[in-house]
Amino acid sequence: PQAAPFSEQAKGLADGFGFLFDCDGVLYAGNHKIDSAKAALSLCRHQRARYLFLTNGGGNTTEDQKAASLVKKVGLDDQELVHGRVIQSHTPLSTFKEGVKRDEAIYITSLDPGRARDIAHAYGFNKVVTADDILEQYEHIYPFHPKRFANGSVEPFPDSARIWRGRAPMKYDEAELKGGNYLKIDHVFVFNDPRDWSLETQIIYDLLISHKGYLGTMSRQNGNSALENDGWQQDGQPTVWVSNLDLLWKTEHPINRFGTGAFVHAFRGVWHEATGRELQFKYMGKPSQITYEYAHECLLREDASSSPGQNGAVAGRPLRRVYMIGDNPESDVRGALEFKPEDGTEYVPILVKTGVWHETEPGAQPRWQPAVIVDDVLDAVVWAMREEG
Ligand code: G3P
Ligand code: MG
Repeated sequence: PQAAPFSEQAKGLADGFGFLFDCDGVLYAGNHKIDSAKAALSLCRHQRARYLFLTNGGGNTTEDQKAASLVKKVGLDDQELVHGRVIQSHTPLSTFKEGVKRDEAIYITSLDPGRARDIAHAYGFNKVVTADDILEQYEHIYPFHPKRFANGSVEPFPDSARIWRGRAPMKYDEAELKGGNYLKIDHVFVFNDPRDWSLETQIIYDLLISHKGYLGTMSRQNGNSALENDGWQQDGQPTVWVSNLDLLWKTEHPINRFGTGAFVHAFRGVWHEATGRELQFKYMGKPSQITYEYAHECLLREDASSSPGQNGAVAGRPLRRVYMIGDNPESDVRGALEFKPEDGTEYVPILVKTGVWHETEPGAQPRWQPAVIVDDVLDAVVWAMREEG
């Protein structure tokens, strides 16, 4: 759990409105500082404004670890400004509101499979499988095994885990599969940017053509039928979840870098080429309504350290307006424009020029229109506070 969030004396002054701060491209760019970020957060604190951090980052950090890294990257002296306030792309999973159950087996991709497993365990999942686990048990599943030596031997993955007894037989029958302890995956989670696109493409493909998620089997549906309801992804294969769709994000490199969305586009291309079908998937993270709803509930309760779905009630002080300060029109601006919470709170997107979006020529406009475009995060906070009088 994260540390205690909003202290009593911090509540009050700026009632009725709040801020959501995007992180990459707003508060820092990779390991480069964005100079005014510290002042912007201090101003919020001074004005006793409600705020949270809403990032599409994640995959290899818990919310606490992300908060600690944010403190360091922004150069904050006071950890209280950050702790208990971080929402990552996959944080809404912790509510189990989206129809995924704790005891279902999930396959997760990540930059660091071991750390991704830790995050999933922290959310309450108890059957978590990564590429390393599969490589360890299915010697020939991937011809380009990252740890295979010239003599053909394979170095083990020390942290791999096993939650199943054996490999499902190719020639299966339903009763045998049900009775046996074979690896059956219920959901695939693309947990931010995968370490190895090629490996993950192979494993996700294998799972999506399998008989009901039993790795190593192949559904009797061949995916080539002319029937509307025939084909893979409709007879019991795992559902696919993606933790954000960011094609681009801002690091210290001068040109935007590819993010998780780039992997999704690549996989969609391979899937379409191999099956003739459009990939079906769900997603969370900005700009999804799932994530904005989650953040809204946290802002109302003034606490991102426990999930809104777990304690039922969404109590808290009402809001009139929330300013989403972001650098990516596709995630930050679009998400805020489309989010219309039932309580009538107005979401106002503010776009900064320190990240993904920047003017290619004077007067250039982003695809999704923010309320205002400002130079940086401090200007954004000042603009919002003037709006609030
Ligand atoms: O991987 C992180 C990136 O996609 C964007 O992060 O903080 O700008 O939402 P952020
Ligand atoms: Mg950003």
